[in-house]
Amino acid sequence: MTKLSKVYNTEDLRRAAQAYLPRLVWDYIAGGVDDEVALNYNREAWDALKLVPRYLVDVASTDTRTTLWGHTWKSCFGIAPMGLQGFARPGADGMLAAAAARHGIPFVLSGAGTATIESITRQAPGHAWFQVYVAREPAVTLDQLKRAQDSGVDVLVVTVDAPVHSKRERDLRNGFVPPPKIRVPLLLEMLMHPRWCLSMLRQGGPRFENWAPYAGKNADTRAIAAYFSRQIPFIQTWQSLDLIRQSWPGKLVLKGILDPRDAIRAADAGVDGIIISNHGGRVLDAAVAPVQQLPLIRAAVGDRLVLMLDSGLRRGSDMVKALALGADFVWIGRPAFYAVAAYGEAGADRVISLFQEEINLTLSQIGRPQIASVLRDTSLVINRC
Ligand SMILES: Cc1cc2nc3c(=O)[nH]c(=O)nc-3n(C[C@H](O)[C@H](O)[C@H](O)COP(=O)(O)O)c2cc1C
Repeated sequence: MTKLSKVYNTEDLRRAAQAYLPRLVWDYIAGGVDDEVALNYNREAWDALKLVPRYLVDVASTDTRTTLWGHTWKSCFGIAPMGLQGFARPGADGMLAAAAARHGIPFVLSGAGTATIESITRQAPGHAWFQVYVAREPAVTLDQLKRAQDSGVDVLVVTVDAPVHSKRERDLRNGFVPPPKIRVPLLLEMLMHPRWCLSMLRQGGPRFENWAPYAGKNADTRAIAAYFSRQIPFIQTWQSLDLIRQSWPGKLVLKGILDPRDAIRAADAGVDGIIISNHGGRVLDAAVAPVQQLPLIRAAVGDRLVLMLDSGLRRGSDMVKALALGADFVWIGRPAFYAVAAYGEAGADRVISLFQEEINLTLSQIGRPQIASVLRDTSLVINRC
């Protein structure tokens, strides 16, 4: 595996994670849905966008500070919610959260996370958001919201783009669907990743920590997973969102919006922001790339919503393109997962600094050292298609 000091980009992180992880876990993280068209198309959409630089500008220092709802973050990006991080490395959720706090950016704990809301907010005070998967039993969701509020979370993310199970064919082939049926060849393959095996043996297997209190007294890892899959996915509607809006006094964000009409409806429903996302190509394989919808959504909602975006961002220049096309903020997914899987805490720091270095570089190279001067300036981007 490449030494961390030799990691120059997110592709290096991806390769390192692939070397470290057994296929079962690797496929879960890296894979998309069906034929993985959306997964690849997300990248193509970023690559098709080109920046128009200006020169003869003083770019000696850059400023990437970004303010959302009155809070100023050190940069324009955060770490998106991703479930089962502890399956790649024990304590991974906490490592990413703590690194985010060190770098002054937000981390979103997944509703399918492997650390409790309480522990993450202790590790990253003021930097942790919580993503809730709305449960079949409303009391469970309401209790999770209360726990998040009591722990000091001030932004709640509700993921809306996974109303039913997706057909992730890599996971189906590997038997990585509840209840897991791991076959012998895959078990043998796991043994070829001894460092990962040892870390899992020491930890005793990751759990859906935030669901443990509801799964019954003395529920073990399997029972908690079974409980989780009975509660999720639950089909939500705009009506069920009302309950959340009424029960959550902080900022409310919907994740997974792609249609401008849904964005308008979200604003009408009292939502504060959205994450334009196709779940990193993990839900609907025929989905449009989020960045294609961004200008349409910005035109539709104006300043009524904070607009954020994820899916396929692998370079600092992708982030600059998103800001120019109307995003207020962006999120990274898999690169953070790869980094913490392969290198633990040091990897979590590295993935953030990598993106930060590339944003600084891009801002200097386009003659816009202040990130604020990029925001909503569509003249900066052309689409070669
Ligand atoms: C392994 C994995 C697990 C994920 N789990 C969740 C989740 O629990 N909740 C959620 O809202 N999104 C989840 N996502 C989607 C991410 O939040 C994000 O939308 C996506 O990863 C962005 O695309 P990218 O990975 O190409 O950057 C997951 C993504 C991955 C790769």
